[in-house]
Amino acid sequence: MRINKRDVVIREIEQNDINLLYALFQEVTDEDKRFFHPHPFDKKTVTKICNSKGDHYYIMLLDNKIIGYSMLRLFGYEIPSFGIYICKQFRNRGYGTILTKWTIGKAKRLGYKKVILKTYKENIAAQKVYKKVGFVVVGETPDGKQLNMELKL
Ligand SMILES: CC(C)(COP(=O)(O)OP(=O)(O)OC[C@H]1O[C@@H](n2cnc3c(N)ncnc32)[C@H](O)[C@@H]1OP(=O)(O)O)[C@@H](O)C(=O)NCCC(=O)NCCS
Repeated sequence: MRINKRDVVIREIEQNDINLLYALFQEVTDEDKRFFHPHPFDKKTVTKICNSKGDHYYIMLLDNKIIGYSMLRLFGYEIPSFGIYICKQFRNRGYGTILTKWTIGKAKRLGYKKVILKTYKENIAAQKVYKKVGFVVVGETPDGKQLNMELKL
């Protein structure tokens, strides 16, 4: 399946995206959850995300279906923490890189000076994307399983 990348739309999540986002969450497999578990994937969480005031959530759409999801979460601090998910059937086609660059651009426009993230050491695809857009490794989590990365904006 060839897709014209110009047909893809990226935008902030809105209140009435609940069903679209819940449909995406139901596609997240247990294997994905090993590397990607920023929050639960239930209806209550979807509702919270679609009504979020402090944190920033973005979606990448193709023909009104969410194919990518990214976030900048504050956890009460000033430096946003980045996260991303691309639907399985759309991976390895550059969408992760496009959505990461777009979200970083957004962080810059929002006035943040830095973005941080954590990624499992075995998550090679994610690290490729992060390094490509300029994230650098600055340490690891106390359990030694994840890398701490950051990008100065
Ligand atoms: C990480 C993720 C967002 C990347 O999205 P994507 O759309 O596949 O990203 P891209 O296509 O832009 O880039 C992926 C890169 O990884 C490479 N890659 C993928 N699997 C790989 C593997 N097993 N070993 C080495 N490289 C791999 C691809 O070749 C590509 O590199 P290239 O651009 O140099 O060719 C996606 O895999 C995903 O959603 N994973 C599940 C959730 C997750 O892990 N999120 C991150 C949590 S920290």
